[in-house]
Amino acid sequence: MTAPSVPTLRARKRRNGSAPIVMITAYDEPTARYADAAGVDVLLVGDSLANVVLGHDDTLHVTVADMAHHVRAVAAASPKAHIVADMPWLSYHVGTDAAVANAGELIRAGAQSVKLEGGAIRRDVVHALIDAEIPVMGHLGLTPQSVLAFGGYKVQAKTRDAAKTLLEDALVLQAEGVYSIVIEGVPRLVGTQLTEALDIPTIGIGAGPDTDGQVLVFHDLVGLTKRHSPKFVRQYADLGAAMTEAVSRYAHDVRDGSFPNDAESYGNPEELTD
Ligand code: KIV
Repeated sequence: MTAPSVPTLRARKRRNGSAPIVMITAYDEPTARYADAAGVDVLLVGDSLANVVLGHDDTLHVTVADMAHHVRAVAAASPKAHIVADMPWLSYHVGTDAAVANAGELIRAGAQSVKLEGGAIRRDVVHALIDAEIPVMGHLGLTPQSVLAFGGYKVQAKTRDAAKTLLEDALVLQAEGVYSIVIEGVPRLVGTQLTEALDIPTIGIGAGPDTDGQVLVFHDLVGLTKRHSPKFVRQYADLGAAMTEAVSRYAHDVRDGSFPNDAESYGNPEELTD
């Protein structure tokens, strides 16, 4: 099976009978391999890399070089899923030529499309990327790269005016040719209304159950984060506890001399024992 293409993903509207799109973040070869083995549709090399892998408090600390490094690692898993890479903060805010060059770097590292945050204000950059044959996924609502401007991670579109602006932004992105839009941190009604208004799929994270797909951060889902999980996270495993338990057992076995045992050691060649 080959990775779902952009046209295939663009057509995935639930109202037309399509199954919801399943997207999850991945940052390295093992997370990509395990997530892909579960049969997800899309692997997002998210700039949440900054939070959940590199330990920063926000996503503003990763560069195109960081993202490309991790896209290469995810691509090394040769996943069946589509790989989309986040364009990090400042990689598409400083002119369309720079944005195309930066997105090109992520595509050459192994991504099949890029994601960027913002609505009408990003019209020119979306246009330039699509002009350069680079497929674009949008991202609206609680866009983490706006944390300083928003004054924190706050649910967005809580007023009628803000919800209307969000819808207008989504329609601009759709008109410019994005193939889907992540909707993050909005009241569920807004998620529903955007999904109904758009012909392209919406992929929700904290946007209620009616979007055309869902995305979660891998480390949140499997219990590997130190941060307080947002309300929309469902944690399916506690791998953090399992990892600490495994390492504790290893430490215990080293300390009491039971590791390594005979079977875990290389036998002695005769020449050494003569
Ligand atoms: O970087 C990321 O993980 C994301 C998701 C929250 C959608 O953009």
